[in-house]
Amino acid sequence: MDQLVVALDVDSVTEAHALTETLRGLAGGFKIGSRLFTSHGPSIVEALAGRGDRVFLDLKFHDIPNTVAGAVAAATRLGAWMLNVHASGGLAMMRAARDAASEEAARMSRPVPIVVAVTMLTSLNQQMLAEIGLHEAMASQVERLAALAQAAGLDGVVASPQETALIRMRCGREFKIVTPGIRGGGAIGAERVQRAGVRAGSDDQQRTMTAPEALAAGASYLVVGRPIIAAPDPRAAAERLVAECRASQMP
Ligand code: C5P
Repeated sequence: MDQLVVALDVDSVTEAHALTETLRGLAGGFKIGSRLFTSHGPSIVEALAGRGDRVFLDLKFHDIPNTVAGAVAAATRLGAWMLNVHASGGLAMMRAARDAASEEAARMSRPVPIVVAVTMLTSLNQQMLAEIGLHEAMASQVERLAALAQAAGLDGVVASPQETALIRMRCGREFKIVTPGIRGGGAIGAERVQRAGVRAGSDDQQRTMTAPEALAAGASYLVVGRPIIAAPDPRAAAERLVAECRASQMP
């Protein structure tokens, strides 16, 4: 399923490659985040991109504009299909990210990566926002940051499925909405096991929805990690999720 991006939140390249082999053809792309990248560096990105996989490089850049521009240019050189920054880095930082992606892609004659901004982490709830001094309602905080990302010329945002409908309404049909925080539904969850380094149960996600619900709310891409990669049979778990989404989209 084109919209399914599987998070390769594992420590070893062997595990990451095994998952991509198992899920190739079912997943529309693979996400490499700070865990795998910090363990193994850019070579895993180049290896997957070189094999034709769509790689979402989820390093959530958040720094001064010049530094973020350099990091985005480097991610573009690696062949990332999608990459992200934090919207709270501000308008100038997001513009610098967008410009660096298009300039580097043009220089290398390759497609411009999709650049999206993280609004509010899906592991945060309203009380946690208050703890860091943000007293605005979660939904309006997310909506404001999404509008800022759009004003900066970014392609879309990463947001919880719970705010997807609101963002879709505010930012229009073309704006990409990437939603982690996929949980529950008949397809996933029941047979979760606890593997080394993978927290089972309700995990750390706070603002969740099922995959069909997220798509119905207007998500462009679903990012799914533990419900698939920590399942006893990741391919079967992904197949069930895809089947559940397709069934819900039938007229
Ligand atoms: O295992 P799970 O399905 O919770 O994985 C979700 C993935 O999406 C993780 O790799 C996490 O880093 C990432 N992510 C997130 N919330 C965001 C941005 C990215 O959960 N706002």
